[in-house]
Amino acid sequence: MSQPNGGTFDIVILGAGSGGYAAALRAAELDLSVALIDKAELGGTCLHRGCIPTKALLHAAEIADQTRESEQFGVKADLVGIDMAGVNAYKDGVVARLYKGLQGLLKQDKITLVQGAGKLVAKDTVEVDGQRYTGRNVILATGSYSRSLPGLEVDGQRVIASEHALKLDRVPSSAIVLGGGVIGVEFASVWKSFGADVTILEALPRLVAAEDEEISKTVERAFRKRKINFKVGKPFEKVEHTENGVRATIAGGETVEAEVLLVAVGRGPTTANLGYEQQGITLDRGFVITNERLHTGVGNIYAVGDIVPGLQLAHRGFQQGIFVAEEIAGLKPAPIDEAGIPRVTYSDPEIASVGLTETKAKEQYGADKVSTYNYNLGGNGKSQILKTAGFVKLVRLNDGPVLGVHMVGARMGELVGEAQLIYNWEAFPEEVAQLVHAHPTQNEALGEAFLALSGKPLHAHS
Ligand code: NAI
Repeated sequence: MSQPNGGTFDIVILGAGSGGYAAALRAAELDLSVALIDKAELGGTCLHRGCIPTKALLHAAEIADQTRESEQFGVKADLVGIDMAGVNAYKDGVVARLYKGLQGLLKQDKITLVQGAGKLVAKDTVEVDGQRYTGRNVILATGSYSRSLPGLEVDGQRVIASEHALKLDRVPSSAIVLGGGVIGVEFASVWKSFGADVTILEALPRLVAAEDEEISKTVERAFRKRKINFKVGKPFEKVEHTENGVRATIAGGETVEAEVLLVAVGRGPTTANLGYEQQGITLDRGFVITNERLHTGVGNIYAVGDIVPGLQLAHRGFQQGIFVAEEIAGLKPAPIDEAGIPRVTYSDPEIASVGLTETKAKEQYGADKVSTYNYNLGGNGKSQILKTAGFVKLVRLNDGPVLGVHMVGARMGELVGEAQLIYNWEAFPEEVAQLVHAHPTQNEALGEAFLALSGKPLHAHS
């Protein structure tokens, strides 16, 4: 592909990750001309260094566990070992196929792809290698990077971030995972399944602290059973290199040693040195501040994805990209409700949720206006076949709609599609209870929870 040399477009998009490329595709469908600029590969973090490769590792981890535990299903198999080269070839193959598909999708007349580092040099112009790309509208979609802590140097060898962890050519014999959020529990889960000795260090009082408290309790119980060590409630203080690895110290002086330390303390917005502030864009701790229509308040500049404060999730980026393209085309799309964005953590056990936690719902509506129901997967046939434990928890407004759905257990991520429809359509439990769920599926657990919440439980043990 020959590099274009500047020009004028309906939209100039800086960053071709989930948010940026979704905006480009929707804009092209709406007959708008687009320059889509990125210094690295199309697809960004999610495709190359995030969602897709980590989920491939998690799937390989599940196969390892199933092999190890096959005897309980009457199947005789021995887990001989993990061939990381083989796992990585499988993972890289998945990424390569999707990357090829995405390149095909973006190869169209309306979209001009520009490879290179762009900088906002005017309210309507991004410069790349001395060439100017001017847009009647500009969308900033520069994504995020793995954060570290002050004084904690990520060297990519012993102290690593998720992008390094994804490229390891071996299973570490032991690992410290700093941060018990989404990345932390997913990698802890993978490494444990692959045979590593894992310890999570989390400053907050519980793992996956953004989730409903009962979810955290169940994940912690499951991790204890899996012999994944974790220490919560004490912030990390320092790391030192030892002969064979690292030694981490947490508040109070306790230390943990391991071969590697994974830093998973959140992702920061990539907004420095890109000309944003010079053009008058408001940044707050590096995040781009927008209104609910994702407009920055400057010129015709919008922002989407991880640089906008809120959930840093690929599907939020997709939806925001589509929203802004439609907004520019004058379609007046409905603003996106952040609470309605489904969240899945693909650890074992898996966590899936949408809407408000019980605590947040009670804060927002008053404790006496909210009721909850927990359906234990113990009563769900398919979950028993899979030998998984967990629950589906519903939060509702009394005499009103469902405010939150929270699920934990094997494969619960697959149920979040129905859960998000229920939440976003503001369904009443009584309405959902009329709908038939196929037997035996894990979906039924959701159906049963709604039956119980509307006062007519079927397979519910109290
Ligand atoms: P996170 O915000 O989920 O978790 C970071 C954790 O580090 C927090 O629990 C925090 O309390 C802890 N922490 C911070 N400072 C600490 C300290 N000094 N000592 C000990 N613990 C400390 O961020 P994470 O896991 O790095 O993920 C980044 C983003 O990527 C998240 O927004 C997440 O939603 C997204 N992501 C989503 C995935 C999914 O949807 N399945 C998978 C992986 C990442």
